Amino acid sequence: MLDALKDELLSQVNAAADLSALDEVRVSALGKKGRITGFMKELGNLTPDERKERGQALNALKDEIAAAIDARKADLAAAHLKARLEAERVDVTLPVRPETEGRIHPISQTMDEMIAIFAEMGFSVAEGPDIEDDFHNFTALNFPPGHPARDMHDTFYLPDAGDKKMLLRTHTSPVQVRTMLNNKPPIRIIAPGRTYRSDYDMTHTPMFHQIEGLVIDEATNMGHLKGCLVEFCRAFFDVDDLPLRFRPSFFPFTEPSAEVDIGCSRKGGELKLGNYGDWLEILGCGMVHPNVLEACGIDSTRYQGFAFGMGVERVAMLKYGIPDLRTFFEADLRWLKHYGFAALDIPNIAHGLTR
Ligand code: PHE
Repeated sequence: MLDALKDELLSQVNAAADLSALDEVRVSALGKKGRITGFMKELGNLTPDERKERGQALNALKDEIAAAIDARKADLAAAHLKARLEAERVDVTLPVRPETEGRIHPISQTMDEMIAIFAEMGFSVAEGPDIEDDFHNFTALNFPPGHPARDMHDTFYLPDAGDKKMLLRTHTSPVQVRTMLNNKPPIRIIAPGRTYRSDYDMTHTPMFHQIEGLVIDEATNMGHLKGCLVEFCRAFFDVDDLPLRFRPSFFPFTEPSAEVDIGCSRKGGELKLGNYGDWLEILGCGMVHPNVLEACGIDSTRYQGFAFGMGVERVAMLKYGIPDLRTFFEADLRWLKHYGFAALDIPNIAHGLTR
């Protein structure tokens, strides 16, 4: 009779498909109202000899069923773990994370590189508004009223609003004026930012970027200007022997003035930077004109210094081989994916400024 019960319970244990079904079997056999427990309760009605024999048999059955339940429990737990491991399987040979989609625009990247190099030289960054007045953009920079140089800039004038003639700044040089009006020498700043001129073709867009430099103290001379720009260009283009040529030029706000060319080669229609005998213009510079110092409240008999201005798109095109200026502002994601920089993979001074 106990053998039949044993077979029945064992087959129930082995048929339990999960832990809760198994627990039901356990309660029905070994619980307070379980079948084995029920037989145990009846032992008291037997004779001592019968009780001994039946008690031993029941205990053996109870132990066997309990052991079978434990074994089944371990099997179910192992099967559960196995299924979970299968379901949560990961391929550790895959890249850690998908490549980010966003790109840093070459203009932002180029300005960051320029700022990093000038910061190493002790320059700090100054800013001014894109909407300027005639005084800061022209008059204080020694453009006399009616001077033809004002027309050369193809200025966007804003509709008249009161006494001040407002315009979109045509260069970053008004930041020179704002900096000198608000600070005492010594001054050593760069001013990167947007500039605007009414012009549009392969090499001109109505909005573009410049970076301005200004150094004012009692001793800075043209030699310092040359040294500063030579160092900058060699670091920025990562060409140690890059030659620079200073050509006499004219700007109303500098005297003497120069335009700077860097050495290059155009052989075979390919542009290469370096000491190859050909030249490419990249920036304008000069010693700050005494009239500009005086217009900004600085004593020109005591202070002097230099200034320079450079087109950011132009040097970005040269450095990163971007052929058409207009593509910078077309917001074409395919272009940005090709020429842009991944956020975690940008050139910097420590790891090198070229890719
Ligand atoms: N502002 C000049 C330009 O836009 C560049 C320049 C800046 C020249 C500073 C000399 C000194 O062409």
